[in-house]
Amino acid sequence: MKKFKDYKLETALELNRQDTLASYREKFIVSDEKVIYLDGNSLGRLPRATINHLDRVIQHEWGSRLIRSWNEGWYERSNRIGAKIAALIGAHPDEVILSDSTSVNLYKLAHAAIRHAAPRKKVVSDVFNFPSDLYVLQGIIEQLGNTHHLDLIPSRDNVVIHLEEVRKVIDKETALVSLSHVSFKSAFLYDMQKITRIAHNKGALILWDLSHSAGVVPIHLNQSDVDLAVGCTYKYLNGGPGAPAFLYVRKELQQKLFSPIWGWFGDQKPFDFRLQYQPAKSLKRFMAGTPPILSLTALEPSLDIIHDAGLSKIREKSIRQTEYMIFLIKELLEPQGFTLGTPLSHKVRGSHVSLRHPEAFRICQALIHPDGSEFIIIPDFREPDHIRLGLSPLYTSYSDIFYAIRILKDIVKEKKFEKFDSARQQVT
Ligand SMILES: Cc1ncc(COP(=O)(O)O)c(C=O)c1O
Repeated sequence: MKKFKDYKLETALELNRQDTLASYREKFIVSDEKVIYLDGNSLGRLPRATINHLDRVIQHEWGSRLIRSWNEGWYERSNRIGAKIAALIGAHPDEVILSDSTSVNLYKLAHAAIRHAAPRKKVVSDVFNFPSDLYVLQGIIEQLGNTHHLDLIPSRDNVVIHLEEVRKVIDKETALVSLSHVSFKSAFLYDMQKITRIAHNKGALILWDLSHSAGVVPIHLNQSDVDLAVGCTYKYLNGGPGAPAFLYVRKELQQKLFSPIWGWFGDQKPFDFRLQYQPAKSLKRFMAGTPPILSLTALEPSLDIIHDAGLSKIREKSIRQTEYMIFLIKELLEPQGFTLGTPLSHKVRGSHVSLRHPEAFRICQALIHPDGSEFIIIPDFREPDHIRLGLSPLYTSYSDIFYAIRILKDIVKEKKFEKFDSARQQVT
């Protein structure tokens, strides 16, 4: 780990001054400087440019042009914006489209892959995967008559997954390997190329969920020979709540796989209104119904900002920021009973840091509802004892990190969390 000078605010301010991406923070709405937002890994901030862009689309494209807009750009919008995402994840422009949610996209691609791999009966995932991904896989197995089974790669320490464990579970029976590139709790980052090769060596297809890596970790889908991928756009891609997710299918597979949802937007010629479905010859076959044009629109300005900043610079800053946060945690928080739930090596770490503490939930409440004039810190809580601190290099500063850790220390040292109760809200 890189060394930092000391644990003082002055060092954080010096790191801010050295930060070549610092000016990108102004491109986002920061309505209250007293709020330190460390949840860009759940819902990214609103880019300033999105407001005018969306306003123009609402007023002009919807308000004035009405239905004519379908032939003036709406029909191709999923593909056009998909191409901008393709450039961020190392894919060809015609290999990525936006549609539906991550869960629905995972359903479409996993279902298609499992059927394609018949008669293989095994589906592999891991204990770190996002529950929705596991539920979707369980649902597919049920719908296909319970003749398949799901095997989960274990973790020895709840922080990383070792390659030997992966090798043990993937075998010649495996139809599909479906994993999150960066795990939502520990931030463990898989070596995409190595795992893809292991799956391919056994003849299995691979499907990566890029929700916690897209926009913050450089990804090379083509170079890594990846078959399928999905990912959400409201985290580091700042597309806004419920923004449509993306899906990727490797070119050679596009005509061999079939969506389980035969919607009209996946048909070769939706506006022929034929009575019999014929899947589109392109990736469009994985679309189902009418795309949410306003939400698609909201995503575009953020993608332009990310392209402008450059993913390698974003990753460089993300590594430096997670290193800095871990440096502070080791000194200031571990003596207070916190443990680090995230890998120490940046080579296997995404852009959030997971802190564990038996009182994690009440500590999060104390961060969000501070006494008096202190900063409000917004992290998120993940059961049973994780405080997730997301670092979004385009707008998180080093002083945000400094204050968050110092305040965490005070909350525990002075037992400020004790006045909060443990009742969970609907969304944590
Ligand atoms: C890794 C991962 N996969 C899937 C999902 C579910 O996404 P959606 O709600 O778009 O289906 C999430 C949501 O946070 C996630 O973190």
